[in-house]
Amino acid sequence: MSVPSSEAPGASTESKGFIQAAALGKSYGDYPVLRGVDCTIAGGEFVAIMGDSGSGKTTFLNLLAGLDTADDGILRVAGEEPARYSAAQLAEYRRRTVAMIFQDFNLLPTLSVLENITLPVLMRGEKADLKRARYYLERVGMLGHSDQLPETLSGGEMQRVSIARALNLQPRLLLADEPTGSLDSRNSDEVLELLGEINRETQLTLVMVTHSARAAEAAGRTLRMNDGHLSFSQATSTGSPE
Ligand SMILES: Nc1ncnc2c1ncn2[C@@H]1O[C@H](COP(=O)(O)OP(=O)(O)O)[C@@H](O)[C@H]1O
Ligand SMILES: [Mg+2]
Repeated sequence: MSVPSSEAPGASTESKGFIQAAALGKSYGDYPVLRGVDCTIAGGEFVAIMGDSGSGKTTFLNLLAGLDTADDGILRVAGEEPARYSAAQLAEYRRRTVAMIFQDFNLLPTLSVLENITLPVLMRGEKADLKRARYYLERVGMLGHSDQLPETLSGGEMQRVSIARALNLQPRLLLADEPTGSLDSRNSDEVLELLGEINRETQLTLVMVTHSARAAEAAGRTLRMNDGHLSFSQATSTGSPE
């Protein structure tokens, strides 16, 4: 299946250090959450980040997303340095570069599946490209549900719609924060398989926070957030799946 656009999403020129973090620090009040995070993620990688609740995983994703900025250190994403940007430039960085998926899907309940897919594009000030939206809905196996409201879907179906919504933005970086956290094991496996396929097909760089060692197995590499640092992890050898 080919992408209906001249640019494949996620295709990157600076593939070696697509994400480069050095000595990243972030505190909330007196409490240092990130205490010198170093990591390099290549373009096209699928990386899982594990770590205890409250260890700073979402904080790190928010820095990558340009939703927040670090107090110390350097962060480069796709050749850009979001910490140097004004609020307006940061908003532009978010629009151009990143899409996110969440544990609770964040679909708008009064809009149909297709409208949920096209709304973020309209909000970017672009025309809704229905052909492109339907292409991504078909890719996630949800084209037949285009006119339904989210409440009529299962959790796994809702997450597949939210993946299509993210892909339809044609981001260079896809961030997933506990994408299987609200799903049973069968739906989790389907969503993880889909994310893995998309990563392999499109070379879209994917950073996924998860509690689940089973989910982390879908990724090519797992990092662990611990004591405000990010380190390599052998995540799959011990512990229960959730
Ligand atoms: N906006 C914020 N204001 C104050 N404290 C925050 C904020 N965001 C996160 N924290 C705190 O920072 C720590 C790390 O949070 P978070 O990154 O959400 O952890 P995780 O995603 O690993 O569970 C927690 O102690 C949390 O309470
Ligand atoms: Mg979190």
